[in-house]
Amino acid sequence: MNKREFDIVLWGATGATGRRAAHHLARRCGGRGLRLAIGGRNRERLEAIREDLPNADGPIALLVGDSHDAAFIGEMATRARVVASTVGPFALYGSELVAACVKSGTHYCDLTAEPQWMRAMIDAHEDEARETGARIVHSCGHDSIPSDLGVQFLQDAALARHGKPCKRIATRVTQMKGGFSGGTAASFLNAMRLRETDPNFSRVSNDPYALCPEDQRTGPDGPDRMMPIEVTWDADLRAWTKPYFMGPMNSKVVRRSNAIMGYPYGRDFRYQETALTRGGIGGWWTAMRSTLFGRLFLIAMAVPATRGLLQRHVLPKSGEGPSKEVRESGSYELVLVGEQPDGTILKARIIGQGDPGVRSTTLMLTEAALCLAEDTDRIPVGGGFWTPASAMGHLLRDRITTHAGMSFELF
Ligand SMILES: NC(=O)c1ccc[n+]([C@@H]2O[C@H](COP(=O)([O-])OP(=O)(O)OC[C@H]3O[C@@H](n4cnc5c(N)ncnc54)[C@H](OP(=O)(O)O)[C@@H]3O)[C@@H](O)[C@H]2O)c1
Repeated sequence: MNKREFDIVLWGATGATGRRAAHHLARRCGGRGLRLAIGGRNRERLEAIREDLPNADGPIALLVGDSHDAAFIGEMATRARVVASTVGPFALYGSELVAACVKSGTHYCDLTAEPQWMRAMIDAHEDEARETGARIVHSCGHDSIPSDLGVQFLQDAALARHGKPCKRIATRVTQMKGGFSGGTAASFLNAMRLRETDPNFSRVSNDPYALCPEDQRTGPDGPDRMMPIEVTWDADLRAWTKPYFMGPMNSKVVRRSNAIMGYPYGRDFRYQETALTRGGIGGWWTAMRSTLFGRLFLIAMAVPATRGLLQRHVLPKSGEGPSKEVRESGSYELVLVGEQPDGTILKARIIGQGDPGVRSTTLMLTEAALCLAEDTDRIPVGGGFWTPASAMGHLLRDRITTHAGMSFELF
């Protein structure tokens, strides 16, 4: 494996997130002796991107081909130690690459937030990944690293201080400033289409334990509902909460982490992720207004005519994303509240600098790829389908706090 031609291949370097990830990776690979390649389907655009990259160590190779060209994808996987992919929607463009990485024992990370596709990939390839040694880690962006590593951080603190994990954790998104990219819009549109056409989609979406191993898909949490009209009072933080549209996805990843790590958070662990407004009637109204707006947006996306209008005139297209100013001035904060079996409350705060959808996401993907490439012998798990917390845990947390503008603290 060490003899492979490239340490890291970034697949999808011409997209909105891919261009930023290429930049971060080239900068971080400089001086570390890592051989980097960037890939995509358009040679001219890849060449233009390479021109603008900061100095990595040595020349950056270009790999040009199509995601559905199994022979090309298979060969690319055999040439790399790690592939990081931004080519999404992954349910449309990602399956051949995962299969190829599994087959050739190549470590892999991506930005998917598509649980039904993750479930399909796990079912199809997990046994083989265990045999070949490929570590496959989905969801290495804003979905779902802050939630997954945040819960692990709070549970580590609970165990160290009190000898017991928190029996429930609520993650509240308290602040979020930034934009989203064309690929995120495309993934959302694809999810809306699948919701109408694929009965399996809703089954996986609604099942809170859908990403857990087959015989472990039960637990105390109720169904994940994508956008219920539900405004609730958080008695610990004394403020109103509203649904957070990525909450169901991130929660599934957190629950999978717990299950595949052997239940360090306990079998009766409960998890919920929503967004926080403030107290009083003003906080309630803000939560209610944005919940209703979210619901209306979902209805508009479900109706083909309005969906077409939104797609043409409102949502960003492939390759588009927030401006440099928005990316750099963006930020987010999550507050995690954990309750110990004796009722003691523990709180953690995660702050991310840069807009969550592109800048922070691509910094996290970069560190995940570097972690898979550089911490090979320190990663505690072998081949298989892992989550960020179960595969990289504190190794990745250290990296993103040092290099990705993130902080984790108890308060
Ligand atoms: N987890 C998170 O927090 C998070 C955050 C942001 C984005 N995402 C996800 O990341 C993915 C990428 O988002 P994005 O905004 O960067 O998307 P994008 O701008 O549309 O870029 C997609 C990339 O895929 C390439 N591509 C598409 N079809 C291909 C094919 N058949 N063969 C080879 N390459 C192909 C595109 O190449 P061309 O340039 O040649 O078209 C482009 O490089 C999406 O799935 C999105 O949902 C996740």
